[in-house]
Amino acid sequence: MRKDTGQVFRIEDYRPSDYLIPQTGLTFALAPEETIVTAQLEIERREGVAPGTPLRLEGDELALLGVAVDGEPLDASAYEATSQLLSIPRPPRSSRFTLTLVTKVDPSRNSSLMGLFRSNGVYCTQCEPEGFRRITYFVDRPDMLSVYTVRVEAGEDEAPILLSNGNLVETGKLERGRHFAVWHDPFPKPSYLFALVAGDLAVLHDEFITASGRKVALGIHVEHGKKERASYAMDALKRSMKWDEDIFGLEYDLDVFNIVAVSDFNMGAMENKGLNVFNDKYVLADEATATDADFANIEAIIAHEYFHNWTGNRITCRDWFQLCLKEGLTVFRDHEFSADQRSRAVKRIAEVRTLRAHQFPEDQGPLAHPVRPRRYREINNFYTATVYEKGSEVVRMIRTILGPDDFRKGMNLYITRHDGDAATIEDFVKAFEDASGKDLSQFALWYHQAGTPNLSVSTAHDAERGEFRIEIEQSVPPTPSESRKRLMHIPLAFGLVGPDGNDMQPAAVDGATVEDGVIHLKKRRHVVRFQGVKERPSLSLNRGFSAPITLSVEQKPEDLLFLARKDSDLVARWQASTTLFTQALIQGFRAVRGQKQAVFDDALVEAIGEIAADASLEPAYRALALTLPAEADIAREIGSHIDPDAIFIAREALSQAIAQRNAGVFATLYEGLDGGAAFSPDAESAGRRALRNVLLDYLAVGEGAPDLAVRQFETATNMTDRAAALTVLAHKFSGHEKSVAALASFENQYGDDPLVMDKWYQTQATVPGAGAVDLVRSLTRHRGFSLSNPNRVRALIGTFSTMNQTGFHRADGAGYRFFAETVLEIEKRNPQVAARLATALRSWRSLEPTRQAAARDALLSIAAPENLSSDLRDIIERTLA
Ligand code: PHE
Ligand code: ZN
Repeated sequence: MRKDTGQVFRIEDYRPSDYLIPQTGLTFALAPEETIVTAQLEIERREGVAPGTPLRLEGDELALLGVAVDGEPLDASAYEATSQLLSIPRPPRSSRFTLTLVTKVDPSRNSSLMGLFRSNGVYCTQCEPEGFRRITYFVDRPDMLSVYTVRVEAGEDEAPILLSNGNLVETGKLERGRHFAVWHDPFPKPSYLFALVAGDLAVLHDEFITASGRKVALGIHVEHGKKERASYAMDALKRSMKWDEDIFGLEYDLDVFNIVAVSDFNMGAMENKGLNVFNDKYVLADEATATDADFANIEAIIAHEYFHNWTGNRITCRDWFQLCLKEGLTVFRDHEFSADQRSRAVKRIAEVRTLRAHQFPEDQGPLAHPVRPRRYREINNFYTATVYEKGSEVVRMIRTILGPDDFRKGMNLYITRHDGDAATIEDFVKAFEDASGKDLSQFALWYHQAGTPNLSVSTAHDAERGEFRIEIEQSVPPTPSESRKRLMHIPLAFGLVGPDGNDMQPAAVDGATVEDGVIHLKKRRHVVRFQGVKERPSLSLNRGFSAPITLSVEQKPEDLLFLARKDSDLVARWQASTTLFTQALIQGFRAVRGQKQAVFDDALVEAIGEIAADASLEPAYRALALTLPAEADIAREIGSHIDPDAIFIAREALSQAIAQRNAGVFATLYEGLDGGAAFSPDAESAGRRALRNVLLDYLAVGEGAPDLAVRQFETATNMTDRAAALTVLAHKFSGHEKSVAALASFENQYGDDPLVMDKWYQTQATVPGAGAVDLVRSLTRHRGFSLSNPNRVRALIGTFSTMNQTGFHRADGAGYRFFAETVLEIEKRNPQVAARLATALRSWRSLEPTRQAAARDALLSIAAPENLSSDLRDIIERTLA
């Protein structure tokens, strides 16, 4: 593994490479333990660089077998090679020459899953961000665009399927039962987009005709016996291709588009040109094995990787500091795609929940960094919620500021101007400025300044003068190495909701630019006055979640209740009920901490029943509105001195109060939602299942409580309903014979299906309470579990450490100790996965003192070994700093 060297990379040190590599030829002689890679690099000295300038190529754990220049083997004294670096101090003085390199790699022993590895016998590569240097020495940086021709050779039995990027140009037989395929990708690309797959796989074929009438052969490659489970992904792919043509005018550009599903993968999926590689979790789905959430994820990730073909591949990043250039933009595009395929409001609420759950704590803790960072020690650790999700929010705000027409013009300009480039965030923002004539210089701080801005808002109504005033003050909290912040341009969408529930349309008289229901905040403090407002309106703020900020507003509970019932903006309406829940839960938490009983406002508890039964609202929305904030959400809102046990008790109490008060309504609704009809994964049907399963959770209290869940578990005709029932049984009736029986039956039925068993691990990893540590520890010895498989690790250890507040944060520190040991075990196999897991402790400083001390000890024990990987060292040191 790559050991930590302490080296820091800085954006200001960027300079173009002295040498370019316009053409790259690769030959892979594949063998499980000893694969020989021959690279033929056409090297070109960049104009203005002195002849004979030393050439340096990066490597990582490579064994070099030979080097030749222009076909002549190089004498060992003419180069220096370590496993990390190949340097040729006196290369040819000519402006072009050919460098041939022969390296040897061992795919079977590559457990880091970077470079060339094997997953279930399938050869597979992962090169982003710095995996290509584990295959051959290269100028391994994203601005090094090259045209690749790849020859893959393997045993015909072992690997009947041979794939790489671009179009297939030749196939043939070789001696000793081997065969080959040659692939050529005409589009110059960075090394991180290179891919190769070889193995014995089943293929689902289809085709797509592009807007200009070109035929594209589509193939999804999966394990034998799983072809049927790829059909939803294929459908999502075709819808994505069509959507990108319709919405952005972007057509696919090669004759083939292949997707491969592998079972060992560090991330969700990878956008290699013409050959996307996926974690099989995000390809395989049918009603019997996948939940509605799985279907939605597959649709989103298939789209995401496909959309990268333009935003990422045709236009790539100049350096890794620009990662959000492709990721933030592509997440924005996949969000819009899903919003168009499903319910826009429900999708937006889900995005807000994800952002708050993952990005806000990152932005508010020791790992905070700008969307476009300026320095890093380990780039693997910058595939973050900030780069991806906040990066997407920033693009969304550009659209809000420009409006849809100028936004589209800006996208067009960006694409025509930079097609074939390795671009920067400055290039991106400039395209929107040029297309719209608007100045985005203050706005661009969203890319450069870390931290979640806060708006503190107060209002006043003068009935006599018919005036409504909103006073808003912005602040951005300090973050690591950025103590002083500059003022931001924040587009804040709002509405003044009149007593009849309709929006008032008063004109703003002064104070700030107000355009199309959006206040443009640019100064520290704004006072916006509206006239002709006879009756006091309820203020609906940050509609559609127009800016990724936090709000401090003094709002009367009756105003919030009113908005929760009436706001025409569904995102703000959901926010109103969530705010009410959160306030009630924080009060409940304080009561529990003070040895008192948590009591809740009747009006709130009652309103929930009304919302549940409101047939004018789509079921998916009602499911969201009925879902209490998660324990971690409550903790984040409390902010410091967190005691997860008290949060849990308060939340249970509110849940029970709601359940008791609305038992009759909920039971009737639950029965009425019984699908019965044939399964469909569409958003409508999924919404009904979601509502029904939220109700099931509420209904599992009191006399005979487990029976309904048992009935649902036994009669479910799809995985969504079955897994939901299992979760209710395992969490609310842990240890009860009916719960034990359900877990056993699930294991019996799905024991041979690892992706389904991940749900079983997840369910048990989130059983609340002190017993979870021992349960999770024992599950690490389960026959289906492996510390080498990232999906298993995330399902069990990842879920336990991020979703089980009472189990992981056990007051005696046993959860943290188990976690620290496990992270170190995983690091030996896969440093990237270990580093990502370790971020579960990033908010340790907001815990109450006893837990804080225990968490710190665990962090120190992870930091103790001398030879830590750069991945884990970087995370731990920043977390402790
Ligand atoms: N670029 C991939 C995506 O977001 C994510 C990824 C990063 C995959 C690094 C593998 C390794 O689509
Ligand atoms: Zn991406």
